[in-house]
Amino acid sequence: MLIGPKTSDDAAVYKLSEELAIIQTLDFFPPMTDDPYLYGQIAAANSLSDIYAMGGKPILALNIVCFPSCLPIEMLEKILLGGASKVSEAGAVIAGGHSIVDDTPKYGLAVTGVGHPEKILSNSGACSGDLLILTKPLGTGIINIAGRGQLASEESIQAATKSMLELNRQAAEVMLQYPVNACTDITGFGLLGHALELALASRVSLEIWSNKIPLLPGVEELAAMGMIPAGAYQNRDYLKDKIAFPKESKAESKAILFDPQTSGGLLIAAPPASARFMLDKMQELSINAQIIGQVNDKNNDYTIKVV
Ligand code: CO
Ligand code: CO
Repeated sequence: MLIGPKTSDDAAVYKLSEELAIIQTLDFFPPMTDDPYLYGQIAAANSLSDIYAMGGKPILALNIVCFPSCLPIEMLEKILLGGASKVSEAGAVIAGGHSIVDDTPKYGLAVTGVGHPEKILSNSGACSGDLLILTKPLGTGIINIAGRGQLASEESIQAATKSMLELNRQAAEVMLQYPVNACTDITGFGLLGHALELALASRVSLEIWSNKIPLLPGVEELAAMGMIPAGAYQNRDYLKDKIAFPKESKAESKAILFDPQTSGGLLIAAPPASARFMLDKMQELSINAQIIGQVNDKNNDYTIKVV
């Protein structure tokens, strides 16, 4: 085993030969949208993302399904079709799966990927001096909550949906062309939660430049209105001792950094020249990526400093 449970990484990695490692991950969750096809697509994009975060290529996926007997079976069909569309966009195949009857629907994938054992990325290799790239804007949790209360604009909802649907495939393909030290993807623990895992695993501290972070449209306004998911507060309470914020920072700006993301972007730590080349390439491909901070030596007062 090359990578296992110790580093809270995105997937397990097992070396089969000098040239080949398999990468194994699974993820599933309840619907965040009323549209079953979209739900299937987003859940699948989210499950596939952990393979990309390890620098791998997904090859095989299995459906994981919980579905109530009181809902029409056509709905499940749409969820599975949505999932299958993302798996085929990723160039992988669905080889079956498992379903059980449950009170609320849940869907996701177990995914197998492959990579070269020496090119596998983990969250533990970040070095002092690296720059941090984030490849998707933040705010899907906030927009989902606001959308349920009919408070999010059509523009916000569409941008969030588009972002959740986007595979991290292209971003990962660009990343693999340059020297990279560490990578993870941003999901339920929010930007700061996943950044903290990366910092702890790499034994470094991070400086996050809050004014550089890409945000989905309307997120700041919605957060200021109190449209903040419970998960963001849980993330904040869990992480607060390890993060230093500037005195003047507002509660809503902090909440955005703790906002749990569905199918979020990659967070990449790379040497400065490599990070700048990567960013140009990503922006050319219309990926909404930004350099959002830097890696510093380990610090005893905080693990992440937001400036
Ligand atoms: Co992950
Ligand atoms: Co995951």
